[in-house]
Amino acid sequence: MSLDIQAVWRQVTPELEQELVAFWSRHRAIADPARAAARARQAVCIARDADGALCGVGTADLRVLPRLRQPTYYYRQFFDAAHRGAGNAIPFANRAKAILQEYNAGLPRPESLGMLIEVENGMLEGHFPQVHEPRTGYTFIGYSPRGHTLRVSWFDGAVLGPPAPPARPARLAGQRPGPVPRRQAQPQQTQQQQQATSTTGITP
Ligand SMILES: CC(C)(COP(=O)(O)OP(=O)(O)OC[C@H]1O[C@@H](n2cnc3c(N)ncnc32)[C@H](O)[C@@H]1OP(=O)(O)O)[C@@H](O)C(=O)NCCC(=O)NCCS
Repeated sequence: MSLDIQAVWRQVTPELEQELVAFWSRHRAIADPARAAARARQAVCIARDADGALCGVGTADLRVLPRLRQPTYYYRQFFDAAHRGAGNAIPFANRAKAILQEYNAGLPRPESLGMLIEVENGMLEGHFPQVHEPRTGYTFIGYSPRGHTLRVSWFDGAVLGPPAPPARPARLAGQRPGPVPRRQAQPQQTQQQQQATSTTGITP
């Protein structure tokens, strides 16, 4: 069944926010309404079926992985069970990337260099063992602290910006903290990139 995909990035209305909160709750994807509302505001695109019912959503949240020290969108995708297995996932993910790539191309300075996914679904991980997946452009970059595969798909022509300040090294058990290395002068980052650095949920 072909789905109608609509771009909603940075245009999520209160009505759509409510619809997404109800959608995730109904499908037991995100039970907490406050968390769901915050996630809804990160929606990039949504899919509707032939009856106009919401059946899929992709969300993006700006993050700076300490190892990369460059901003990427942490991308998540959810389809309701009735609409899975129809071959919509890859075109939908590619559309989400295109929307964000175009958005960044229109900014005076891009806020993100590409898309980051954490493959939480073990069966999907087994289905896509290639280091570089050509249909989506996602390339393996390592593992998350939770042990899931991390992949990045860079935007066309993305250029490295000033690296975010290095993450503080984790203190090993029983080890005395050593002297804090003097921080080199860092080129300026945008406010959003600084926030992303301080709120990242993924550590190397
Ligand atoms: C992940 C998700 C968006 C995929 O959507 P979908 O409609 O099931 O996927 P599609 O039918 O478009 O299939 C896309 C590809 O993934 C493969 N695939 C999909 N589900 C799979 C599964 N459970 N196990 C193995 N492979 C799977 C398909 O075979 C297809 O590959 P192919 O083109 O080589 O045949 C959907 O299953 C979902 O919303 N799941 C719950 C949330 C989730 O797991 N999100 C991703 C977290 S990593």
